[in-house]
Amino acid sequence: MGMFDNALSLIGPEPEPISNDEYRTRQNKLFSQFEEDDLLILCSSPETIHSNDVHHPYRSQSDMIYLTGWYEPESVMIAQFIDGKWSVTLFVQPKDTLKEIWEGRRPGVEGAISGWPIDHAYSNADLHERLTQSISKSSKIYHRTGIRSEIDSIVTDAIQHRGRARQMAGSGPIAIEDPSSRIAELRLRKSPAEIDQMKYASIVSSIAHEAAMRSCNTDRTENQIQSIIEGFFVFSGTSGWAYPSIVGCGENATILHYKENNSRCKDGEVILIDAGAEYRGYASDITRSWPINGKFTEAQREIYQLVLDSQEAAIAECVIGNPYNAPHDAARKVLAEGLIKLGIINQSLEEALDINTGELRNWYMHNTSHWIGLDVHDVGVYKPNGEPRLLEEGMCLTIEPGLYFGSWRPDVNCPAKYSNLGIRIEDDVLITSNGPEVLTAACPKTIDDIESIVGTPF
Ligand code: GLY
Ligand code: MN
Ligand code: MN
Repeated sequence: MGMFDNALSLIGPEPEPISNDEYRTRQNKLFSQFEEDDLLILCSSPETIHSNDVHHPYRSQSDMIYLTGWYEPESVMIAQFIDGKWSVTLFVQPKDTLKEIWEGRRPGVEGAISGWPIDHAYSNADLHERLTQSISKSSKIYHRTGIRSEIDSIVTDAIQHRGRARQMAGSGPIAIEDPSSRIAELRLRKSPAEIDQMKYASIVSSIAHEAAMRSCNTDRTENQIQSIIEGFFVFSGTSGWAYPSIVGCGENATILHYKENNSRCKDGEVILIDAGAEYRGYASDITRSWPINGKFTEAQREIYQLVLDSQEAAIAECVIGNPYNAPHDAARKVLAEGLIKLGIINQSLEEALDINTGELRNWYMHNTSHWIGLDVHDVGVYKPNGEPRLLEEGMCLTIEPGLYFGSWRPDVNCPAKYSNLGIRIEDDVLITSNGPEVLTAACPKTIDDIESIVGTPF
């Protein structure tokens, strides 16, 4: 545990959790877009089976977490305008001693009402009747179908019977709209409290990568290195990985979503690690690529520095008012220029950048950025009305250029000098009025830093 204790000392205190006032503010921003006879229904995702009676660790729907901070399974939130104000009701698993002995504690109805930003709580046993009643009083239902089929049925039954309900009572739902895109617009801009959570996820992930570098030697397997990173995620109080870690040495680093993580690393190889922790629902997403023996070869150094230059050019574009794809364009340009200079691409810059016929795509075939937040690939339309979105303060995105020379690929002639080298460098960047803020800046990245850290214990 010594190494983890040393690593932990580099991390500051955990931030304050998101306050109930902030959840209420988020709710009100959404409700202000609704009419008074609208109804919002939000379901937590169901539990999924790992095998027989063993479940996968539960992770709720991010929209539910965003609006309520409620992480429990088998829950439904509804919001309705009652007596002059929007009122939020949560249906939850009731207290049940026998179930809690086996499966763990439940807040139950009383816990939900006393601790969460809601107005009413009921047991799931009351859901069908109460939801049907609420629906019958509404004209429009905001509901995302496909998460809980039994809730979908209640909603579609009500819509199917609307003619009758309208005839009898003069009310009843006439439309369903998916609220996801409205919630996504809110989630796209992070509040100071959200940024605090993301900063904690980021520092933990940064130091986890550093711990992996420091603990490495030339007799390691990918899974041993993975265990240090993921072990530290848990040790430091996060809920673990935000997405399955990619830990690939040598040619495995040229497989973008490599997942086996079970090869023995060879002296002279570069390992690519794409791993990030989730903290209070918020993701971080870091990739580092480094030589397992602590020293880049000349060829590895050339490619590493080129990717790093492209990443820095992309980060510099993360400023308010730039289109979201400005970092991607900047990264591609630097990479193409560098590959032309190294003789890997024999096209003009313009030709190399062509999205269909340019040779850059042979070696850099993915995007540079995605939004990050409660989901690692966070919500938010990139091209509202067909035009690239302009970056705003509080938006958060990854910058992750890479070059991949898989000589196992039959579709390209891989330059022998760079055979089976895969390099990606990924950081998480917050858009601020003072320019880009790299949330994952604590993670070693320069060639000098990496060479002095790999194999050197804390
Ligand atoms: N870790 C997945 C990604 O970088 O997008
Ligand atoms: Mn990413
Ligand atoms: Mn990643």
